[in-house]
Amino acid sequence: MSEKTPLLQVKNLKQYFKVSNNYTVRAVDGVTFDIYPGETYGLVGESGSGKSTIGRSIIRLYNPTEGQIIFDGTDISGKLDKKATAALRTQMQMIFQDPMACLNPRKKVGEIIGEGLDIHHLYANRKERQDKIDRILAKVGLAPEHADRYPHQFSGGQRQRVGIARALIMNPKLIIADECISALDVSIQAQVVNLMKDIQEETGTAYLFIAHDLSMVKYISDRIGVLHLGHLLETGTTEEIFAHPVHPYTRSLLSAIPSPNPVVEKSRVAESYDYATSGLDYNAGSLHQLEGTHQVWGTDEDVARWLAK
Ligand SMILES: Nc1ncnc2c1ncn2[C@@H]1O[C@H](COP(=O)(O)OP(=O)(O)OP(=O)(O)O)[C@@H](O)[C@H]1O
Ligand SMILES: [Mg+2]
Repeated sequence: MSEKTPLLQVKNLKQYFKVSNNYTVRAVDGVTFDIYPGETYGLVGESGSGKSTIGRSIIRLYNPTEGQIIFDGTDISGKLDKKATAALRTQMQMIFQDPMACLNPRKKVGEIIGEGLDIHHLYANRKERQDKIDRILAKVGLAPEHADRYPHQFSGGQRQRVGIARALIMNPKLIIADECISALDVSIQAQVVNLMKDIQEETGTAYLFIAHDLSMVKYISDRIGVLHLGHLLETGTTEEIFAHPVHPYTRSLLSAIPSPNPVVEKSRVAESYDYATSGLDYNAGSLHQLEGTHQVWGTDEDVARWLAK
């Protein structure tokens, strides 16, 4: 994968929020990772670790405090001109946890899905617009007549399909999926993830897949980044992370996953991790290159100690 040029490069991204005169939240504190065309990068971490903030900074809902975001060869971290903004609003799309919250309840699904086409004038006539909507509905497993219904007439899984259709109709190069399956039943989660995988195979779109749940991330991601308290502690291929977790926080996340095999599950030992008592300082150290694409953050001594285990 390294011979390809990344679609997205996030370099030392910092996103601070000044809450009061003497308090600033360092939601994202020096995060670096790449996403290659057509791949899925899974970003995992507990609540408040900065996952959504990273997604929102990338899509430029915030002005990054520091660092660089390069998308498809263009630096998008500074002030954007009209052309760059329009490109960003089409080529990067977002799907959210609660589709109901972002789907206008008074609009029919056809209108919701067609909105991006309208804003960016992406059709020559009504027929072409309708064809595009019908095609995208079919692609996400919905019928043409669904276009005439309102969001509340759909199930949770179907609404998430509408959310995906709305993103997909813009033909994006990157889709940021922020906890997009977390609110769904487990059986429906698998359906939606499978749909996302099929769509990726067909269209070549890349995903930034944000989740708490490592088990689903494992299933969809080519590579994974582990985030804690605004710091990216470890990154690598799914295989590298699952087979050889190095950072104690990653190890604790992995050890928390129940095994479907009862024999293995019986002997599973959850490793606890508490930053306050870990003796680690996330602001000290650097990114250490391990084998392949595997990287871990720490001081030389920390990393040597972890590797010796
Ligand atoms: N606009 C804001 N102003 C102030 N603080 C913020 C703002 N947005 C996020 N934060 C803080 O930044 C930190 C990271 O928040 P973020 O929403 O990115 O976490 P998350 O990993 O997405 O969590 P969750 O899993 O709960 O969605 C939190 O401490 C949050 O309270
Ligand atoms: Mg979030």
